[in-house]
Amino acid sequence: MQTRSTIRQGTKVLITGGLGFIGSNLALTLVNLGAEVTLIDSLLPQYGGNLWNVEGIRNHVAINISDVRDPFSIQHLIKNQEIVFNLAGQTSHVDSMTDPYTDLDINAKAQLSILEACKNYNPAAKVVFASTRQIYGRPHYLPVDEKHPLQPVDVNGVNKMAGEWYHMVYHQVYGIRTSVLRLTNTFGPRMRIKDARQTFLGIWVRRLLEGDPIQIFGDGSQIRDYNYVDDVVAALIAAASTEGAFGKILNLGDSQRYSLLDTAKLMIESLGRGAYQLVEFPPDRKKIDIGDYYADFSMASELLGWTPVTPLKTAVETTLSFFNSNLKHYC
Ligand SMILES: NC(=O)c1ccc[n+]([C@@H]2O[C@H](COP(=O)([O-])OP(=O)(O)OC[C@H]3O[C@@H](n4cnc5c(N)ncnc54)[C@H](O)[C@@H]3O)[C@@H](O)[C@H]2O)c1
Repeated sequence: MQTRSTIRQGTKVLITGGLGFIGSNLALTLVNLGAEVTLIDSLLPQYGGNLWNVEGIRNHVAINISDVRDPFSIQHLIKNQEIVFNLAGQTSHVDSMTDPYTDLDINAKAQLSILEACKNYNPAAKVVFASTRQIYGRPHYLPVDEKHPLQPVDVNGVNKMAGEWYHMVYHQVYGIRTSVLRLTNTFGPRMRIKDARQTFLGIWVRRLLEGDPIQIFGDGSQIRDYNYVDDVVAALIAAASTEGAFGKILNLGDSQRYSLLDTAKLMIESLGRGAYQLVEFPPDRKKIDIGDYYADFSMASELLGWTPVTPLKTAVETTLSFFNSNLKHYC
């Protein structure tokens, strides 16, 4: 992977949500780069945290099973860190509607505690926050750039929006070096495939590997862009390594776009078996669906020198092969 990186041997890095999908893949890369990595994760069963995610680096990272909603553990853990990758989050859009207060506590209130801890105990830390394309809501135009209005369609989107703007305010007012990346559908090894809480791609992988048909909601014509997790890891590291990225909100995305139907067909072809079904949208999903989405990520390209490099086919093959070998740890 070609990444702009200022990570050196011994760079002290904290990852919130570090046992989750993106956090653990980031940890693997950072350990390879020689960083001294601490992971915070609550391992709440309904989220994507999984100790197996860090199996290969278990002895090379410090793991702290704690909750970002606990300001005291955050204050303690944030001291002396050079970089904080702030990835802990409640990711399920449907759960945010059935249990809005938990989403508020994790995706908004706890983010304030993290920033307060930086302000009071480590104002020199660089902080990169993982936000989401969900906050744009139903696109008014495509591709969606950062100037697009923010009109979240669910509670998760509102709280993630608050979370990212807290990061911007702490930059503007207190000079904390924060950067926000708005992620699109990210997938790859170590994602949660147990259910559809992370992305629909997770449950599609599980169903394919277990011999069940992929269920596509609607007619499958919806367009998406996807990022392979290694490309997102590269963007996170580049954001932490680029002075010009602090105080900025940047979209990630890909210039290749696919309909859900074509995505399903590509997954089936890559595995060499499987089937799909078109099914009616469940009502709770239909109400918060955003329709077609793909991002304009030219600002991230210009500022970070970042562009996704993994073709979808390669990404799908690597992901299926990982879960084929590790299925029992993820179901
Ligand atoms: N995967 C995607 O497609 C995607 C898209 C947009 C944004 N994001 C954002 O990226 C970040 C990482 O997402 P992911 O896909 O790796 O999901 P994930 O669920 O695998 O990782 C999130 C991690 O945060 C942990 N966590 C949740 N609540 C916590 C708490 N209160 N205290 C400590 N840890 C807690 C979970 O246990 C989990 O390990 C999230 O903030 C998410 O909103 C992801």
